[in-house]
Amino acid sequence: MTDHVSTHQAEDDLRNESILIYVNGQIVPKAQAMVSVYDSGFMLGDGVWEGIRLYNGRWAFVDEHIDRLFDAAKAIDLDIGLDKKAVLKALLDTQIANGMTGDAHARLMVTRGVKTRPFQHPKLSQRGPTMVIIMEHSRQKLPRPIRLATVPHLRGLPMTQDPKLNSHSKLNCILACIAAEKAGADEALMLDIHGFVNTTNACNFFIVRKGQVWTSTGDYCMNGITRQKVIDLCRAHEIPVYERNFSLVDTYSADEAFLTGTFGAQTPVGSIDGRVIGTGEMGPMTQRLRDLYKEMVGA
Ligand SMILES: Cc1ncc(COP(=O)(O)O)c(C=O)c1O
Repeated sequence: MTDHVSTHQAEDDLRNESILIYVNGQIVPKAQAMVSVYDSGFMLGDGVWEGIRLYNGRWAFVDEHIDRLFDAAKAIDLDIGLDKKAVLKALLDTQIANGMTGDAHARLMVTRGVKTRPFQHPKLSQRGPTMVIIMEHSRQKLPRPIRLATVPHLRGLPMTQDPKLNSHSKLNCILACIAAEKAGADEALMLDIHGFVNTTNACNFFIVRKGQVWTSTGDYCMNGITRQKVIDLCRAHEIPVYERNFSLVDTYSADEAFLTGTFGAQTPVGSIDGRVIGTGEMGPMTQRLRDLYKEMVGA
């Protein structure tokens, strides 16, 4: 199958060839934005990141993203070296330098910095941290609902590599995505260690059954900001919403399924493991939540 799509597929935008990128306090042309081959992020995936989105001049839920970045950095014992206000300023400076006013997506990354030797021990990371902000002009381009395939790669326990961490190393998720593509789907639906449906390799996952909205308990998946906003919107609009365990049996027969994430907001799912979900097109609940979310972020 050749017509794969991705939840993070954006319209081509030539302006992205000439963007400016923030690297450790400097804002430089894309071609000059470099980090060392000794960088902990490059060498070991030792870093944390956030994806943040600009709608009509406002970075959506930016304080929550920065809080989550600092929480993750603390969890991996990485000193960002800036306070939250300074990180926000770096984001805004990069936005101003790029003259962006809307439909932009930032990937804000912090790694443990440059190592003195090419080995794992964190004490070898002596220069840093390394902070990079890539900010692109970005509009989701989704020609059709996403096809998912379940894969053998699980969402693990918190004492291995906590799946709540937005770590640079995403190998488990990448392997899941590769397996899904090889099965003819676009992205992977991942189960938790008990076999309950949990999340996808890059987004949180919801189903709609008889007017109710279901998502996983929140264990084993990213504490997605968009996921929480959808739950909040349901509660505010008296749409029954449940964070609960459910299996593939409930999922295949759902009326609708959709994904949530900062980039794509709410992305409809057309099929899972070859089973068409609902009509195979975006359903009315997904559309409603999408509209409510758009209103919330001022899109
Ligand atoms: C594995 C995974 N799940 C879900 C999400 C969505 O989270 P958010 O809604 O905060 O963008 C992300 C985004 O970073 C992710 O990497």
